[in-house]
Amino acid sequence: MRIDIITCLPKLLESPFSDSILKRAQDKKIVEVVVHDLRIYSLDKHKSTDDYAFGGGAGMVMSIEPVDRCISSLKEQLLYDEIIYMSPDGELLTQSLANQLSLKKNLIILCGHYKGVDERVREHLITREISIGDYVLSGGELAAAVLSDAVIRLIPGVLNDETSALTDSFQDGLVAPPVYTRPAEYKGWKVPDILLSGHEAKISEWRHEESVNRTKKRRPKLL
Ligand code: ADE
Repeated sequence: MRIDIITCLPKLLESPFSDSILKRAQDKKIVEVVVHDLRIYSLDKHKSTDDYAFGGGAGMVMSIEPVDRCISSLKEQLLYDEIIYMSPDGELLTQSLANQLSLKKNLIILCGHYKGVDERVREHLITREISIGDYVLSGGELAAAVLSDAVIRLIPGVLNDETSALTDSFQDGLVAPPVYTRPAEYKGWKVPDILLSGHEAKISEWRHEESVNRTKKRRPKLL
């Protein structure tokens, strides 16, 4: 998979992709993440990527021209499955959407900023709009990193057995059961006996029950 991220703040995206699982996925050549600095596509002598809103009002609006020039140049080189705009009013990111996107080959993610992007970008250049939750971030970069992480870790070969995505919360419509590690007792707080029993079938049954109970309590709408 290849993910091209378009942003006017490329530095914000350096660290999420240079550590842990996202780094390993790139080292293993399972995914290629390329961050594009929108300013490079600005024809303006100050390399600006935004302007005042028509009709007035506070806040700057991302201009269509640099975005169009960047997307067009990417599209000349590759065929993209989706051109995604990160926006608080987009479709909510769920595990099911992450699963769908993990099957795609090439994605562009445009990070919004300021008061948003010129509406004509959304009408003509974007194929999908995604929000990571009902709250407003200062820009789309952190949201793009969240989306990329949720998608990349699902691509076969990225996770090893111990971190397999199959046992993640939401993957089977349930939240994950509680987990414990050594010591078996700490300050008198004990690990459930069943987990120390070595009885695989019973442990599996217990985990399923815990998942169902937790889902009922914490995320009843999932059931
Ligand atoms: N940009 C600002 N807030 C956002 C959010 N909640 N999701 C996606 N992109 C955003």
